[in-house]
Amino acid sequence: MADALLPTGFKQLFTPRRISARVRKLAKDIDSLYGNEPLVVICVLKGAFVFFSDLVRFLRNKNLEVDFVRLSSYGDGTASSGRITVGKDVEISLDGKHVLIVEDIVDSGRTMHALLQRFAARNARSLRLAAFIDKRERREIEINVDFAAFRMSSGFAVGYGLDYAERWRALPAVYEITTE
Ligand code: PRP
Repeated sequence: MADALLPTGFKQLFTPRRISARVRKLAKDIDSLYGNEPLVVICVLKGAFVFFSDLVRFLRNKNLEVDFVRLSSYGDGTASSGRITVGKDVEISLDGKHVLIVEDIVDSGRTMHALLQRFAARNARSLRLAAFIDKRERREIEINVDFAAFRMSSGFAVGYGLDYAERWRALPAVYEITTE
């Protein structure tokens, strides 16, 4: 969608070109770490679906599996509700494999904390986290993002999978919204 058609108050933060360059670089870093060791890359739905699908297509690992979890922490607003619900769990075994969780945003850290706790008993060889946006300054629970495409200290972003009340996920660029 052309920027002129978007509501006023949308400020472009990251262009598709810049996003692509960052995601490609992350994929390179991830490949350097794991090589061809068995790796399960897990997409946290819904927000990570665009980042995830770009990222896995840049990866060169020949022993890669993908899976999906559905977690929710936000209601329809812009702040975390604090409650994490699991709508869908992974289906493949994590036993003895490296696991890379792919999130769109790590904000308070509550969602990732809940997921990491859930995965702790599944005998993964390692458990790491990639996030499209790391809002490190907003952490309420200590969570380290191993691979972050971008950092933000404040603001509410939409596009490239990120929503506001379920809208704007399909925008190819990322925008900060100040009003709606
Ligand atoms: C968002 C985002 C993360 C979480 C981050 O999920 O995708 O999962 O919130 O917040 P936290 O670090 O404060 O826990 P949301 O519930 O909006 O679901 P969505 O992925 O379907 O948009």
